[in-house]
Amino acid sequence: MKRLAMIFAMDQNGLVGKDGTLPWHAPRDLKWFKAATLNKTMIMGRRTWDSLGRPLPKRTSIVVSSAPRPSALPEPVHWVNSLDDALALGQRIDDGQDEMLIIGGPTLCELAKPHVARFYRTILDATYDGDCWFDRDFASDWQASYRGTVPATGDTPAMTIEVLNRH
Ligand SMILES: NC(=O)c1ccc[n+]([C@@H]2O[C@H](COP(=O)([O-])OP(=O)(O)OC[C@H]3O[C@@H](n4cnc5c(N)ncnc54)[C@H](OP(=O)(O)O)[C@@H]3O)[C@@H](O)[C@H]2O)c1
Repeated sequence: MKRLAMIFAMDQNGLVGKDGTLPWHAPRDLKWFKAATLNKTMIMGRRTWDSLGRPLPKRTSIVVSSAPRPSALPEPVHWVNSLDDALALGQRIDDGQDEMLIIGGPTLCELAKPHVARFYRTILDATYDGDCWFDRDFASDWQASYRGTVPATGDTPAMTIEVLNRH
């Protein structure tokens, strides 16, 4: 049985999105995201899929939507109509991994909260303008198996990266 994890980057107020995309450009966080998700199955809401616009290499994508599968969708991308179907499919995908991840957005993640055992959380040491937020306190009382800080560089603020595990 794979562990279900969630991964999010947020600002000091829990902001996670703006106009269907990320409010910031934070290459170091993208590198962390890649390392955390590589070779694993990623479950995402349809709007997050739209913002990616393509399957990310060396990862399996499952998109959750109430709509039928679009005919133009690339073949390797899975398309399901509920979170339960996504979780069941993610368990069946034989990728040799012990973890699958929900990668957003906040609408889908809110639903997935009760199922999540690990939270990869990045908090940027800044505030931005945007239009969607995730629960800033989610998993705050979980046990950290990793906590690191990344100093500010150029336009990118400092950030704290944590791996939080449900007790
Ligand atoms: N900062 C981060 O780490 C991060 C990570 C991911 C995303 N984001 C940002 O978050 C924003 C998008 O998030 P969002 O909350 O607006 O959208 P989302 O969660 O990505 O997608 C919402 C869509 O998913 C489908 N969906 C959700 N729950 C469903 C259910 N129970 N059954 C069937 N379908 C369901 C619906 O698609 P249909 O409308 O097709 O039915 C719904 O409109 C973007 O700005 C993105 O850049 C940020």
